[in-house]
Amino acid sequence: MTRTLGTCYYPEHWPEEIWADDAARMAEAGLTWVRIGEFAWSRLEPRPGVYEFDWLDRAIDTLGQAGLKVVLGTPTATPPRWILTKHPDMLAADAEGRSRGFGSRRHYCFSIPGYIDDCRRIVTELARRYGRNPHVQAWQIDNEYGCHDTVVSYSDAARDAFRDWLAQRYQSTDALNAAWGNVFWSMEYQSFDEIELPNMTVTEPNPAHALAFRRFSSDQVVRFNRAQAEILRRHTDAPLLHNYMGRVLEFDHFAVGADLDIASWDSYPLGFLMDRVDAEADHKTAYLRQGDPDFQAFHHDLYRAVGQGRWWVMEQQPGPVNWAKWNPEPLPGMVRLWSWEAFAHGAEAVCYFRWRQVPFAQEQMHAGLLRPDSADAPALDEARQVADEIAAMPDIAPARAQVAIVFDYASAWAWDVQPQGADFSYFRLVFSAYRALRRAALSVDILPPDGADPSGYALILVPGMATMTDAQINRFATSGATILAGPRTNAKTAEMMIPVPLPPNLPGLDVTVARAESLPPSEHLPVEGGGTVRHWFEVIEGDAPAAFKTDDGLPVLSGTGKIRYLSGWPDEDLWDRIVAALCDVAGLSRETLPDGLRLRRTATHLFAFNYAPEPRRYRDTDIPPAGVMWWDL
Ligand code: GAL
Repeated sequence: MTRTLGTCYYPEHWPEEIWADDAARMAEAGLTWVRIGEFAWSRLEPRPGVYEFDWLDRAIDTLGQAGLKVVLGTPTATPPRWILTKHPDMLAADAEGRSRGFGSRRHYCFSIPGYIDDCRRIVTELARRYGRNPHVQAWQIDNEYGCHDTVVSYSDAARDAFRDWLAQRYQSTDALNAAWGNVFWSMEYQSFDEIELPNMTVTEPNPAHALAFRRFSSDQVVRFNRAQAEILRRHTDAPLLHNYMGRVLEFDHFAVGADLDIASWDSYPLGFLMDRVDAEADHKTAYLRQGDPDFQAFHHDLYRAVGQGRWWVMEQQPGPVNWAKWNPEPLPGMVRLWSWEAFAHGAEAVCYFRWRQVPFAQEQMHAGLLRPDSADAPALDEARQVADEIAAMPDIAPARAQVAIVFDYASAWAWDVQPQGADFSYFRLVFSAYRALRRAALSVDILPPDGADPSGYALILVPGMATMTDAQINRFATSGATILAGPRTNAKTAEMMIPVPLPPNLPGLDVTVARAESLPPSEHLPVEGGGTVRHWFEVIEGDAPAAFKTDDGLPVLSGTGKIRYLSGWPDEDLWDRIVAALCDVAGLSRETLPDGLRLRRTATHLFAFNYAPEPRRYRDTDIPPAGVMWWDL
């Protein structure tokens, strides 16, 4: 498969006289793709119904003439000010009921009917005009759903749409009352119109009510995206994609991805390390200029699953960003490393955000491939190097990993709704397991809860999956893989109740969670042989033999059959021991990698990436900081 590079460009930010030179320089640097248009609505339709597409015609033509392929964005993440005048109710509301404001972006609530109609209109105009344009070779719908906390909205429109959604799901309030357990605290309803959003309650709302609202909110994103996809499909055969963000969990990306052809995501390793990775201060210091060694890889693997194999990095950090708490410069070589890591995980394209640093407005401190004065910024040379390397590189065919982790957005919502301990986070739990697998030199695939074929894996981890249907349990249990479930796996019904018989209720595993406790950060339960349990611990009953126990003799890892159960949240040392034990059971070979060194196997190559700030030795080779190595397999 060919690997390509690209960049994100905003012709509307620059005088037309420099477009051709920009395009020539992009092509000269070895870039193939240029994404444009996703924030340009105020220039495409400056007044209601008055379209100005001539400039976009010329921009696409100029880029295309230089040999570049255009990804055209639909501009619906930035509705112009006049749309707000037209739909004064279009803004999302926060949990306190306050309306969010105009003056940045993503200022819309997914449930506003008038706004979706305007989106359909502008997308139809764009699709008609550019759907068959030979230079437009892919379409991006909207931009980063969920970024800036924009999925869940407590607006009146969301409330009305939620009531409709509930009426369809439950058919009668009797059924809803029973499903939610509304006899508790006399919360029973007699009409769907009595049901409010689960905010502003005196104390916490019913978790079933809160979870239903999270499901509804996700469905609204799917519906919004589908409305645009359906229009584009009528006018173009080019692939449709969306650019997802890192650690955004408020909507089901697998469901959005089902309506698209390619998943892409926006990779900002240094910003993520600062703002989105849970880690101790010394970890953040060591990786300040490289980013977390696993966070990008996790999302590469996740979005490969969301794109059903086809995925890109749409925005790659090229230098300091503007939005994190602190914004350091990458270590020289990291832009190349990040790009290669994406390719090693199967990316078809890596695009750098953005072409030229813009001297005005919110992102003026965000680096680009060019400085604001058009001189080369440091990342441009690294991009050139990657372009030369991929041109010289024979095919790097992707391979199925031997190990998989199931990732389930609905579980993130369930544990947000009922964390039971202040720091219980589904993402953090799954990511702690992913990290441990990678420390053991394993390549990992991420599986959606439904749809993907789990056969052929030696080991599948299903941590914290709140609810498993019989079909899901059956599919994983009969996959042939060794399965690690827990903690908190299959611990709730779909309506957020404790199931009876008690969890985890998995076939061939005599384990029952009798009770559970959450633990503050100061509390660790030591485990015999090394490591501790933290955050969460379950006391279990049953005959399944325990391979690992706490110092007090309570089981931590139980079972001898195909399904094993983990009844606590391991620290790093304990995770390493558990992964080692599971590899032995599943017949997988493993290694213990030096800190910061990570591997990824393809069908043709073994890649090594050094995220550490010092050289690391692997296979008799010294790999410098920010170094990338590969070996033919
Ligand atoms: C992304 C976004 C881009 C730009 C970038 C800055 O989240 O899609 O438009 O804002 O961040 O890092």
